[in-house]
Amino acid sequence: MNTGMAKIEWARQYMPVLGAIARTFRHERPLEGLVIGMALHVEAKTANLAAALASAGAKVYITGCNPLSTQDDVALALNSLEGVECYAKRGATTEEYYEAIDRVLDAGPVITIDDGMDLIYRIHTRRTDLIPSIIGGCEETTTGVHRLRAMAREGKLGFPVIAVNDTPMKRFFDNVHGTGESALTAIMVTTNVQVAGKHVVIAGYGFCGRGLAHKLHGLGARVTVTEIDPRRALEAYMDGFSVMTMDEAAAVGEIFITTTGNTSVIGKGHFSVMRSGAILCNAGHFNVEIDIGWLEEHTDRVIRRDGIDSYYFGDRVIHVLAEGRLVNLAVPKGMGHPIEVMDLSFSLQALCVRYLVEEGRGLLPGVYNVPEFIDEAVATGKLNALGLTIDSLTPEQKHYMESWSEGT
Ligand SMILES: NC(=O)c1ccc[n+]([C@@H]2O[C@H](COP(=O)([O-])OP(=O)(O)OC[C@H]3O[C@@H](n4cnc5c(N)ncnc54)[C@H](O)[C@@H]3O)[C@@H](O)[C@H]2O)c1
Repeated sequence: MNTGMAKIEWARQYMPVLGAIARTFRHERPLEGLVIGMALHVEAKTANLAAALASAGAKVYITGCNPLSTQDDVALALNSLEGVECYAKRGATTEEYYEAIDRVLDAGPVITIDDGMDLIYRIHTRRTDLIPSIIGGCEETTTGVHRLRAMAREGKLGFPVIAVNDTPMKRFFDNVHGTGESALTAIMVTTNVQVAGKHVVIAGYGFCGRGLAHKLHGLGARVTVTEIDPRRALEAYMDGFSVMTMDEAAAVGEIFITTTGNTSVIGKGHFSVMRSGAILCNAGHFNVEIDIGWLEEHTDRVIRRDGIDSYYFGDRVIHVLAEGRLVNLAVPKGMGHPIEVMDLSFSLQALCVRYLVEEGRGLLPGVYNVPEFIDEAVATGKLNALGLTIDSLTPEQKHYMESWSEGT
């Protein structure tokens, strides 16, 4: 067995919910003959999603959604799976990256699965001829969903897309625990520095930011949060973290992690007041949260190690991990989210694809929530896999909760 296949097999053992869905798919073949285009992080968990969709009868064409997150051995193994073709390559140039996206689109997908909207953006800007035949799409992450909603608001979205990211079974686990655990693991294996006692600044107290903040606190770090939303800032404060502006935090932090989905959150004015040796990384969106362009342009010299670029300004140095790209995926030893977390996210994806195939032709273009029954089915599947049972409402409780005339 090659290393890619061994990784896929290892992940499969920790994906019981997707495994059960794949067994049903294999039996019922709900995607027979359909072409599915995917732009996701190409690694072992994603490979299991591709395999599950192929086992349902689909022909799956897949490429990456980040040039640094592809694992080449997994990409190779994917190409040996029946019904799957993979075009991703680690370290692809921008040109190669978009060539691969185009190859996926050349296959004529009727369903798209994105993590950051690359396929949908390309379809709506360069390949509009594909729109009439597309049943619908699924979007995996926050930033992709923001952009889809902007497109829908302007009447520019050409087919229905399910915002997988927004559903509780995704955000409460993938963004909070997945990003929390995997970003910390990536920082620690890449730098080998101690987290306990360090002053760590988290930009953004959304789902990803709060997961990181709590896990860092558990490891003994001193955590400061920066925010632009007063409610989330207050939440961070009442959860026990310091809250300040990035202008203030820049001077005190030792490790900085951005999780905002926004651009230039750490930039010029911040670099100049940072203490020498500060470590910066991004666990939010693509490579836009830290102004790497400014560092590249103004540094005296850079030392590049595996996953760490050290920018010197005289005798001061600022270290950036993974070129400011998603640290949990883009550092050389980055494994992405823990397998069990992706079992939930990709089970949602698999069931949403089936839903689109069965119901999507009746949906108008727009952004849709994951249907409640799918969210619940994934939660129940996970509880079953864990051997946990929960209470059910008694008829009396159900009546009480649904009535308004019973007094208190
Ligand atoms: N690393 C990963 O594997 C991974 C996983 C899931 C999501 N994401 C990405 O992480 C980002 C955040 O996702 P989320 O679910 O936490 O989103 P979210 O919307 O819940 O949180 C983002 C937070 O950042 C704040 N913010 C925005 N601009 C800011 C600024 N300039 N300074 C400080 N705070 C600012 C917002 O007010 C918000 O509270 C998105 O880009 C998402 O796509 C990454």
